[in-house]
This record gives sequence, C-alpha cells and structure tokens, in this order.
Amino acid sequence: MNILVTGGLGYIGSHCCVELIENGYNVIIIDNLSNSKKDVLNNIFDITGIMPIFYNVDIRNYNEIFDIFTKYKLDCVLHCAAFKSVNESNEKPLEYYENNISGSINILNAMKIVNCKNIVFSSSCTVYGNINNNPITEDSELNPINVYGKTKLYIEELLKDLVNSNDNWKVFILRYFNPVGAHSSGKLGENPNNIPTNLIPHILSNKDIIKVYGGDYPTKDGTCIRDYIHIMDLAKGHVLAISKIIQMEKNNIIILNLGTGKGYSVLEVINTMENISGKELPYIITDRRIGDITECYANPNKAYEILGWKAEKTLKDMCKDSWIWYNSNLR
Ligand code: NAD
Ligand code: WQD
Repeated sequence: MNILVTGGLGYIGSHCCVELIENGYNVIIIDNLSNSKKDVLNNIFDITGIMPIFYNVDIRNYNEIFDIFTKYKLDCVLHCAAFKSVNESNEKPLEYYENNISGSINILNAMKIVNCKNIVFSSSCTVYGNINNNPITEDSELNPINVYGKTKLYIEELLKDLVNSNDNWKVFILRYFNPVGAHSSGKLGENPNNIPTNLIPHILSNKDIIKVYGGDYPTKDGTCIRDYIHIMDLAKGHVLAISKIIQMEKNNIIILNLGTGKGYSVLEVINTMENISGKELPYIITDRRIGDITECYANPNKAYEILGWKAEKTLKDMCKDSWIWYNSNLR
C-alpha cells in the first residue's frame, strides 16, 4: 500500500511515517523543508531500517506535485504540510491562506486526477476556539480565533463539500490537541527551523527561567489547562485511520478528536519535567499570553468507537521522551 505524506519530515508527519513503515506501508514524502531538515530521513531510516522515498517539493507548485502523483498508484494521502504558528498567522494572513489552503487545493486536484480520493487531514483543536464546555466533542461549536485556525476550518469545509459532491471521496479529519514527546528510541523528535514557542520546547531549551503565561486563570493552580498527547499515540491513530479509510466502501467523512481526555496545567507539566530530569526548573509567572484559552481538553470517545484507538501514554512518558530527545540531539 502506497501512502503519500505531505509534510512528512515535520514533527507529526515524521512520527507517522515511522509508524506507517512499521505497519508495512510504503511511504512517499513530499516536504519543502520550510520547517524541517533533510536529516530526518536518516532518523526514520535508523528506526525502521527503511529509507522513505522523498521529494523536496512545495505543495504550492501544482505541476511538480502532479508529476509525483502520477508516478505511484496511491492508496491514501496523509496531508500534514502546513504553516502552524498562531502569532505568525495573524501577522501574515496571505502567506497562511496561500500555503495552507492553496496548497491543500493543489493536493486535492492532483488526487482527483489520479483517482486517489482517500485523504487523512491534519486538523487542530484550534478550530474550536475559545470554548467553555470541556471536554470538547467533535460536535462542539467551531469558532477559531486566529488565522491559522481559520485556514484549518476552511479546509475542513472544503473536504465536507467534496464528500457531499458524491464523487467517491473518503475523508478523515483528525483534530489534534497538544502533541508533545518524541519517539522512545531518542532518534526522532521535534526539531523545527523556526524558534518553537510551545510549552515543552520552551521548558527544554530554556537556559534561564521559564515564563509561565498567567497564574490567575480560574483553574486548580491558576495556570492554563491543556490536553497533551504523546506523539506516538497520535501516530498510531493515523495508521488506524488510514487502514479504516482504505476499507471504507463509499464516500464518507469522519471527524475525530485525537487527545487523551485529560487536562494538565502548565505547573503540572513543569513539575513532571522536574521529576524526570532530576533538576530544579525555575519559573516565573508573567502576564497572560494574548489569545490563550483557559482550558481545553478532548472528549476522545468517538475515536475509540470508530477506530478502537485511545491514547496510552502518560504525561510522564511525554516528558521523559522529550527530555531524552532534547538531551541527545538538540543540547
Ligand atoms: P511541522 O512544521 O513540524 O511540519 C509541517 C511540515 O510541512 C514541515 O516539515 C514543513 O517543512 C512542511 N511544509 C510546510 N509547508 C509546505 C509546503 N508548502 N510544501 C511542502 N511542505 C511544506 O508541523 P507539525 O507540528 O508536524 O504539524 C503537522 C500538521 O499538523 C500541520 O498541518 C499542523 O497544522 C497540524 N497540527 C499540529 C499541531 C501541533 O501542535 N504540532 C497541533 C494540531 C495540528
Ligand atoms: C500550552 C500552555 C501557554 C509557552 C498551540 C496552538 C494550537 C495547537 C497546539 C496547532 C498555554 C503555556 C506556553 C511558554 C507558557 N497547534 N505556555 N509558557 O497554545 O495550547 O496550542 O499548539 O494546531 O493551535 O495554539 O500550546 O504549547 O503554546 O501552550 O506558560 O513559554 O503553556 O500559555 O497555556 P497551545 P502551547
């Protein structure tokens, strides 16, 4: 089975490639290295013993991607390629709409022409926006509060319209909560070109004092709550979705939350990382970060009903694997 992974050298795509290869799939990667490095291919090889086929191509370039799509008989596309920085998206809306939406339209056009109409799309809990009703189900209101989140929502809408057109499209939309951690071998993890602003990379790379954005939220310890999910649990969800989509008989769209269903505060994450590292991690509570929501965690029951998937790894596993990856590769 041939699976084409866009953005396959990025954080989520690369871990999905490992899991796909280990489940016997043949992986073809398209990535323009805008937020990843070619070395990731060697990391995938070190873990799996297989070097995936790789094209350094931009999904905004229709002619180049079309050439690749015609070379293989594709069974499914896993579409991860996108820009994903919330702040940058508000500063550069045109770039985000062009990369995320035009890029997706190119992929879908190429899929239509080569008649591969099975797609798993990387969406985000960001599509829910500032919601008060936790845990969040897939039927919750969609109200993204930043440009990045809007690009994800509009692609979701486009995918729904494609399925409604009765043209045999089969679609999984996976809404990830907060993916963290690394492959347990320590050979693969998150290594972006951009400076990461997310909590765990900030904790790991901080040489001075960790900034906790806000200590006066109405939560158990005053800091925000998120649903952190281990990257390998997330990758396993993708393999199950791909296997399901290939077996599905008629056009359909399935939207699933991928989260653990448990929320942890910023201070709980810092404390867990302290226990794992055996080091004191000094922090300071600063002002709130603009645009942060108080609390956000998934109801992941639908993913269990449809795929038999649930997250297995704990916050401790997430911190341990991140710590090992960071110390053996990025320090
Ligand atoms: P990432 O930046 O690590 O990976 C994205 C990859 O896509 C990168 O390797 C980048 O070089 C590539 N890319 C971007 N634009 C491209 C283009 N025009 N042509 C070809 N390649 C291109 O990000 P990630 O964390 O792995 O995220 C993967 C997907 O999951 C994205 O769609 C993102 O929006 C979504 N997502 C991520 C998170 C998260 O917290 N990491 C949460 C929810 C959803
Ligand atoms: C987590 C918590 C911060 C950094 C982002 C995107 C979202 C999705 C997942 C793609 C928050 C706090 C953080 C720091 C801190 N990505 N924090 N100090 O904002 O929940 O979600 O990634 O789809 O769209 O917005 O993740 O890791 O940035 O923050 O106190 O230096 O940690 O305030 O409460 P977030 P995060």
